[in-house]
Amino acid sequence: MIRLAVRCEPEYAENVLANLLELAPNGVEEEHGPDWVEYAIYGPPGEVPELGELQAAAGGELVDVSTTTVPDDWADRWADFHKPVVVGDRLAVRPSWWEPHDSLIDVLIDPGRAFGTGGHATTRLSLALLIGLEEAGEAGGALADWGTGSGVLAIASAKLGWEPITACDREPAALEAAAANAEFNGVELALERVDVREDALPLAPTVSANLTASLLIACAGHLAAVGERPQTLICSGMLVEQLDEVAAAFAPTGLQLAETGTEGDWAAMLLRTAGEG
Ligand SMILES: C[S@@+](CC[C@H](N)C(=O)[O-])C[C@H]1O[C@@H](n2cnc3c(N)ncnc32)[C@H](O)[C@@H]1O
Repeated sequence: MIRLAVRCEPEYAENVLANLLELAPNGVEEEHGPDWVEYAIYGPPGEVPELGELQAAAGGELVDVSTTTVPDDWADRWADFHKPVVVGDRLAVRPSWWEPHDSLIDVLIDPGRAFGTGGHATTRLSLALLIGLEEAGEAGGALADWGTGSGVLAIASAKLGWEPITACDREPAALEAAAANAEFNGVELALERVDVREDALPLAPTVSANLTASLLIACAGHLAAVGERPQTLICSGMLVEQLDEVAAAFAPTGLQLAETGTEGDWAAMLLRTAGEG
């Protein structure tokens, strides 16, 4: 197994990470030094991104790139750091070895090789917006989750009251993890392998999409091209500085910015069809 690590100065870290997540959608490992942040990607030889691709994605912001060979049990190491994540005093995402919280909606997640322990700011921001809709009495009806990873948002949505749920991802490992997690949680997900850049998007009145700014903009382009849109769209995976650009990309579809949430440099937003809600 190869570990490919890139280092950058802290001021560029969120930007480098946002670009890397597009090349390494299953997530990256993060380490901090006195004056650097390192992100590492793991994969079999031939499946980790090319150095050139990485350098292009990060622009001139990298100070070092290195590759090392590591033991093949890398995919199980998430277990070392996966801890329960409580969002909005309403819902907890936990691994199987933590007890469920009595008063919170329980979402049990084993991400396997997929992104989505619930711990990443982009996931927490999405969960907070879903909980906000539920608190406003707006949970229910069909929901589609684009870029489902471990299925965390899709499963949380099912437990908050949406049904039926379609979840899609480009990565087979994500679909496997989401199927297993749906079963652990006793919820039904219709899973589809979809590349949101190229394929038709599964549509529903409510959509959650924790992707990246450029993938969200691509989704906006598809919606505009087919003349369809959800009534309510939760978008996450952007940096704060990318919010306006992503919101502007959805404007031609009739979806307008209704709410934003931020955590550190990360931002999420709730878009609604003009005149509805
Ligand atoms: C940031 S993760 C979000 C995972 C989960 N929804 C969460 O909130 O924790 C983004 C997901 O999008 C998927 N993805 C990346 N590029 C994609 C594409 N072009 N089409 C479909 N899914 C994609 C990745 O495999 C990854 O599972």
